[in-house]
Amino acid sequence: MLMTTKPMFDLAYEGGFGVGAFNVNNMEITQGIMEACSAEQSPCILQISKGARSYANIRFLRKIIDACVEEYPDVPIAIHCDHGDTVELIRQCIDDGYTSVMIDGSHHEYEENVRLTKEAVDIAHEAGVVVEAELGMLGGIEEDVVGLDAAEYQANIEKFLTDPEEAKDFYARTGIDSLAVAIGTSHGAFKFVHEPKLAFDRIEAIMKTCPGLPLVMHGSSSVPKEFIDLINSYGGNMPNAMGVPEDQIAMAVRSYGVCKVNIDTDLRLALTAKIREVFAKDPKEFDPRKYLGPGREAIREMVVRKLQMLNSAGKADAVIAHWKKEGETMPAWYSGAAAV
Ligand code: G3H
Ligand code: 13P
Ligand code: ZN
Repeated sequence: MLMTTKPMFDLAYEGGFGVGAFNVNNMEITQGIMEACSAEQSPCILQISKGARSYANIRFLRKIIDACVEEYPDVPIAIHCDHGDTVELIRQCIDDGYTSVMIDGSHHEYEENVRLTKEAVDIAHEAGVVVEAELGMLGGIEEDVVGLDAAEYQANIEKFLTDPEEAKDFYARTGIDSLAVAIGTSHGAFKFVHEPKLAFDRIEAIMKTCPGLPLVMHGSSSVPKEFIDLINSYGGNMPNAMGVPEDQIAMAVRSYGVCKVNIDTDLRLALTAKIREVFAKDPKEFDPRKYLGPGREAIREMVVRKLQMLNSAGKADAVIAHWKKEGETMPAWYSGAAAV
């Protein structure tokens, strides 16, 4: 069932779980995610970056997601814009039927971030769409913005973390629905030079200055060593890849107000490792179904692993019941057949 993230976060904030936000770029990735969410009866957020919009053509992606909504009526699904950077893009996403958008002004000066975010909130709320914004700075690469390298980021982490007092002011002045915070995570496969420790004290401080505000963790792939080893053993070259330990993410969603956890890199690794394996074992293979099919299965397995880490397995029914009870309706702009 298509919905905003609000009913998901309402339950996740107090309920000791987080909702996985997985990036979609094509049919096999989307199907693998949905098969996992259906098997585990978990809510999910399908998120679309600017790069995904142009790679797949948003009209094609929307049709694939509409098919998921029809195929899996018992799975709560939100369609989210990942790292939206302009008001024009936010407007397009709303027109395209997204139920949630991120306006990422974190690379701007603070006042400009407030102004941009408030403008996006006014437009989105008018259409019944919820808004995530970002404060603080993550490491790694995101969209066309290249962040700090892993060593520099990790050595100076304190100065990039989200400021709790600034978050309070930002929340009050923008009216956002959720906030992406910098608490020691980083985008991509090469996040750290040594084992990281998330800034749990900082999450706690933000929860005090912004009570009830759902928090979002970007850059939350764990870059499991076994997948890097597989990729490298089948001809890849990814030395020194390192991610956020899964036990720390499990703690952030169970004991803190982290409601949304963004994962893209780990899906890419699962797909890449499997396709490399197929080609390495049978260099004569050229039927796309024989490598994209196993790749889709690898995505499914990776997402099942994540849903269990996030403790969101089994929460689908409760989210749908909450959505119905609260009398939430689909925003007026949404009239597609998928709104079942
Ligand atoms: O944070 C960025 C996501 O991993 C999306 O990456 O811009 O390459 O689609 P992308
Ligand atoms: P990863 O690169 O850690 O998967 O993060 C993805 C993300 O934050 C998408 O917005
Ligand atoms: Zn991100």
